[in-house]
Amino acid sequence: MRLTVIGCGYVGLVTGACLAAAGHEVFCTDIDDQRIDLLKAGKVPIYEEYLEEVLKRAAAEKKISYTSDAGQAIRSGEVIFICVGTPPKESGEADLSAIDHVARQIATEAKTSKLVVEKSTVPALTGVQLQRALAAYSRNGQIKFEVASNPEFLREGTAVEDFFHPDRIVVGVENEASATKLREIYQPILERKFHCPVHAGKCPGGEKSELLVTTINSAELIKHASNSFLALKISYANVIADLCERVGANVEEVTRAMGLDPRIGGQFLKAGLGFGGFCFPKDIQAFIHLSASVGVDFDMLKAAERVNKQRIDRFLEKIHKALWVVRGKRVAVLGLAFKAKTDDIRFAPALAVIRRLVEEGAEIHASDPEAMERTKALFPNLAYHEDPYEALKGADAALVCTEWQQFREIDWERAGKLMARRLVIDGRNLYSPKKMHELGFDYYSFGQT
Ligand code: UGA
Repeated sequence: MRLTVIGCGYVGLVTGACLAAAGHEVFCTDIDDQRIDLLKAGKVPIYEEYLEEVLKRAAAEKKISYTSDAGQAIRSGEVIFICVGTPPKESGEADLSAIDHVARQIATEAKTSKLVVEKSTVPALTGVQLQRALAAYSRNGQIKFEVASNPEFLREGTAVEDFFHPDRIVVGVENEASATKLREIYQPILERKFHCPVHAGKCPGGEKSELLVTTINSAELIKHASNSFLALKISYANVIADLCERVGANVEEVTRAMGLDPRIGGQFLKAGLGFGGFCFPKDIQAFIHLSASVGVDFDMLKAAERVNKQRIDRFLEKIHKALWVVRGKRVAVLGLAFKAKTDDIRFAPALAVIRRLVEEGAEIHASDPEAMERTKALFPNLAYHEDPYEALKGADAALVCTEWQQFREIDWERAGKLMARRLVIDGRNLYSPKKMHELGFDYYSFGQT
């Protein structure tokens, strides 16, 4: 099928690339001309594992193309996926101006009927507004616009794998015809008929994914309800970690045992510096805002958000306790990205920590496998090192802020010889306290004594 993707951020690019790999012809457009030029030149503007490979293959097979001409892209596709950003406003409410802008473009540029799919994360009831905007700006009464919601559940860092091997595909529709069209689009994914870069054509067996057909309002709610629940889970684990510190228990033992209960599940119970990124912090705020706007008390989400913000304070408390005076100290920061396998630093806990330490007069030496370039733009005066051991040289303390595999594998015996002092404050609980103590380190982490 001929598909249009509007918005070439990570969701749009992964969606476009993977749908092209599934055999569709995909036309991508973005308001940012530079981004389109880069893509046309075969470059990928973000780091996402496997994405470059899938895009290259799709381009070679002439399944994907890019244009700055939104009108042309809109006219080329039968189905249009809206993948534009929905950033938070000051109030926490989602800013839907990009969706509104795109709706107007679609309504004025389309020459034939279209199925318009919301892929961007939007609050419930956006579909109704989208339908209204499409009708209001349409110049041709003969053209019909159907609206659908198809939320993405892509984690940055594993987005390509998540797209090809989804737990579920949710399509919120107004009628059976839209459901049929979306099922047709996702059929190759459901039947695993695509070249999988993750498993090199040998995808593991197991149950196939399910495509759930819902109303548009439900589909929109599913996305926010899922992300907010995961954020709640993380904050819950973090409060348990605080409790563990007080009563002398170990959060890793507690959450591991909890997670073995299938009703709880072991994922997203990892205590530490808390959640960051451009999804959880903004989605939880948007969900709080939506709930309040319809008169529903969702105070527990506010508590989860508060707990998450306090993680930075807790971490700073540990730093002060261990390091005493911060001014003039050389501090190695391992990890800048909000999580491993991405160069995304939006709402990254590491940056909040760095900001506070810089204010206090610390000398920061940072290392991250992917996120240094982006961080340099915000903090040009830090020292950056490709090699984490260089960052650790002469350091009074090492802070671990992102759970990169490279940092899990650090040889602390070697690092200890380079550092001015054997002190590690671990915001991601990557190491065994016992082993670190055996190596002569002062080692602080979350919820472990
Ligand atoms: C999240 C969801 O997991 C995706 O399903 C969703 O599609 C996406 O948001 C989105 O809305 O687009 P993402 O933000 O990429 O994905 O990252 P996660 O893997 O969910 O991690 C979020 C944050 O929570 C990270 O900062 C991570 O370090 C932190 N985290 C995660 C914890 O602190 N503890 C955990 O146990 C798990």
